[in-house]
Amino acid sequence: MKNIKELIDNICSGYDPDLEDLKEIVSLEGSEADYLFQAADRVREKYCGDEVQVRAIIEFSNHCRCLCAYCGLNAENKSVKRYRMTIQEIVENAREAIDAGYKTLVLQSGEDMWYTSDKVCTIVKKIKEIDDVAITLSMGERSYEEYKAFKEAGADRYLIKHETADENLYNSLHPHSSFKSRVQCLKDLKDLGFQTGSGFMIGIPGQTYETIAKDIMLLKKIGVHMAGIGPFIPHPLTPLRSAVTGSTFNTLKAVAASRIVLKDAMLPATTSLGVVDSKSRNLVFASGANVIMQKVEPYKYRRLYDIYPKPYGSELTVKEEREKLNEYIKSFGRGIGTGRGDHGKLMD
Ligand code: 5AD
Repeated sequence: MKNIKELIDNICSGYDPDLEDLKEIVSLEGSEADYLFQAADRVREKYCGDEVQVRAIIEFSNHCRCLCAYCGLNAENKSVKRYRMTIQEIVENAREAIDAGYKTLVLQSGEDMWYTSDKVCTIVKKIKEIDDVAITLSMGERSYEEYKAFKEAGADRYLIKHETADENLYNSLHPHSSFKSRVQCLKDLKDLGFQTGSGFMIGIPGQTYETIAKDIMLLKKIGVHMAGIGPFIPHPLTPLRSAVTGSTFNTLKAVAASRIVLKDAMLPATTSLGVVDSKSRNLVFASGANVIMQKVEPYKYRRLYDIYPKPYGSELTVKEEREKLNEYIKSFGRGIGTGRGDHGKLMD
């Protein structure tokens, strides 16, 4: 076996790894995995600086036309109470988040066609009238024309995870769509000039270390600006209810490997990682992550945005939660992003 430390060092200084290299890296154990984490931490520091970028997320609708086998919001789950926030509710929620100090708002929902292109554009424009915040949309697959309209209305970023780079596995988990159409969306978004985010789950049944290596290769090939990587959590009302929760250790390695390959990408400590194990959420900030997202919609909606099972703490105001988040970031010695945290502009 070639010297793994040399391989990690070479990737950090620009060598483009192949599938075999990445397979080895994501399957490391013990002190070799620690070496990867430390390398990722240095690359993060060099390309992204010390600040953790903070995003407010508004989960504005849990209606979804999709049939994702892992997701509690899939259209076949008739037990979940569905909600939609009105345009006014979304804009007021955005105002509250802006008042609390957020400079990026992520608007996320299921694939809910009630939000027509016109409605989405109105929401984006109204929020932009409040302040020059960055707006990230995360509402699934839409046509090129719709994405174009969102961009022209002022949306800056778009998140749509590829979930798994194994085409057959993707197609079996998503009977309503296909891997090809997902990748096309990512290409369209890049083409339109969005800061584009993808990502994938760790531990989805059928995934191997080779799949994870392929996932990271795909992030690189697409040239993503952001990538959310989190463990799969089984939801009792989905076909994958009996599957095993994804490994937090494998998640940490996938984030670290993505960091050394992608260099300056925005990599969040995902909510699902924090749900599985709060210690891992701290560790991931020392292994390549530089972004955190905080839900800001009213609690009555948060409880219904039931993608996977998770606990809810005591109810705080948006401002109180933001202060708590600042304290949390300070607790592990990192700075707090004060700007919009655009990709490629962190070190200006
Ligand atoms: N476990 C972990 N992550 C999930 N997601 C959806 N369902 C689950 C689950 N059961 C993630 C997917 C999706 C995002 C909205 O949430 O990656 O893109």
